[in-house]
Amino acid sequence: MTASRREFVKNMTLATAGLAMLRPDQLFAAVPADRKVRLGFIGTGFRGTGHVALALRRPDTEIVAICDVDERMLQRTANVFKQAGKPMPKVFTGDNYAYRKLLELKDLDGVIIATPWEWHAPMILDALAAGIKYIGTEVILGITLQDHWQVVKAAEQAKAHVMMLENVCYRRDVMAVLNMVRQNVFGEIIHVQGGYQHDLRGIKFNDGKNPPGVGAEFGEKGFSEAHWRTEHSVHRNGDLYPTHGIGPVAMMIDINRGNRFVSLCSFASKSRGLHEYALAKGGPAHSSTKVNFALGDVVTTNIKCANGVTILLQHDTNLPRPYSLGFRVQGTKGLWMDVSSTIYVEGVSKDDEWDQAQTWYDKYDHPLWKRWSKDTQGAGHGGMDFFVLHGFIEAIKRNTATPMDVYDAAAWSAITPLSESSIEMGNERVDFPDFTSGQWMYRKSDFARGDEF
Ligand SMILES: NC(=O)c1ccc[n+]([C@@H]2O[C@H](COP(=O)([O-])OP(=O)(O)OC[C@H]3O[C@@H](n4cnc5c(N)ncnc54)[C@H](O)[C@@H]3O)[C@@H](O)[C@H]2O)c1
Repeated sequence: MTASRREFVKNMTLATAGLAMLRPDQLFAAVPADRKVRLGFIGTGFRGTGHVALALRRPDTEIVAICDVDERMLQRTANVFKQAGKPMPKVFTGDNYAYRKLLELKDLDGVIIATPWEWHAPMILDALAAGIKYIGTEVILGITLQDHWQVVKAAEQAKAHVMMLENVCYRRDVMAVLNMVRQNVFGEIIHVQGGYQHDLRGIKFNDGKNPPGVGAEFGEKGFSEAHWRTEHSVHRNGDLYPTHGIGPVAMMIDINRGNRFVSLCSFASKSRGLHEYALAKGGPAHSSTKVNFALGDVVTTNIKCANGVTILLQHDTNLPRPYSLGFRVQGTKGLWMDVSSTIYVEGVSKDDEWDQAQTWYDKYDHPLWKRWSKDTQGAGHGGMDFFVLHGFIEAIKRNTATPMDVYDAAAWSAITPLSESSIEMGNERVDFPDFTSGQWMYRKSDFARGDEF
């Protein structure tokens, strides 16, 4: 690069660094050390109560209020408070918009949203409008591209932080591999894979495996995610749940921080699994057997990145299979295969032979896990749920950016509507919007850089 070109790039970097991006801006005071972080929870179903239980364990956090529309879920949540020996906070309920009353509370440092997907974007937008500065939302951010743009723009306008609580980014093996990527063990990264490969037939039909008090079948307002999740499989065909697969690998390849998703192409297989399951469980006359499911059983998405990395994502929730997120991280010197828990590094591993990955995981255990593993005991999903809440709360305490931000949430979640469009148009290539408006070129990765949060 010539001297004048180098100078130009440097000046541009400095100039654009000052643009209105959501970085730590210290406009608001950090939470004083002698007071607890005050949280409100919207949606205290299966996932929400998990977050509630973890928040109740923290000496630095106080749950001020909760909101849910289902009396049975509120009862379950009351039991969680009782078990923790804590009094029930203010409860908001009664109708779908009761949460707006919770948002009017004056003393909230943040809210956590764990409702059905279609409620996330409206609730985030209402929370931003109400002046809440930290919003944690369960996956995924919204349904449509418009939802994602609205949330990004509203968060920028409010100078507020929206973090999608993508817990898989904190899985212990995933973080060890992130550590290896950062230490260049795999060389330059060339290709990554991930997915959501989880047999959800029991959940989508609420077949009674979920505790407690279940037994309703598809179509009834049962006591499981079936009362909202299944409809998406009836009406939509695309990668409906990309973030567990994409979040961890996006962090490894610096998406929105020097790299970005450029375009994707999606393919959906035929749809058989849900129909076969309904037929086997309910027989030919059952109403569920007569439903036409739009969702292909295996949806495959190829993503091209600005820096030349390719990504393969899989969504596979309708067929019998053991759970696997199917990660693969491959560079010029070697690769990690999640499904077989194996690693190969040229010149270190025996020629043409896989190493059992555990030795590598132990060697490259992430500093966050080394420091906090005791606190993860009993936390959901092998302990990773601890970290995602921890990251959110520690950011509030310091009045700094959350470890994953609104641009991550939007880029990862946008895969769903883009894959739906691609499939609908006969597997056409679809371009990604750039939610950072060009800032991806200058932003630096600060996810899990130390051992604090
Ligand atoms: N990250 C993970 O590992 C993980 C695991 C499970 C679920 N999830 C996500 O968590 C979210 C919730 O899933 P879940 O399993 O808890 O579902 P759920 O059905 O058990 O809980 C959703 C809750 O939201 C409540 N609700 C619905 N509309 C509401 C409204 N307008 N106001 C207030 N409450 C409302 C429901 O009554 C219910 O209690 C989903 O986005 C799901 O994808 C994430």
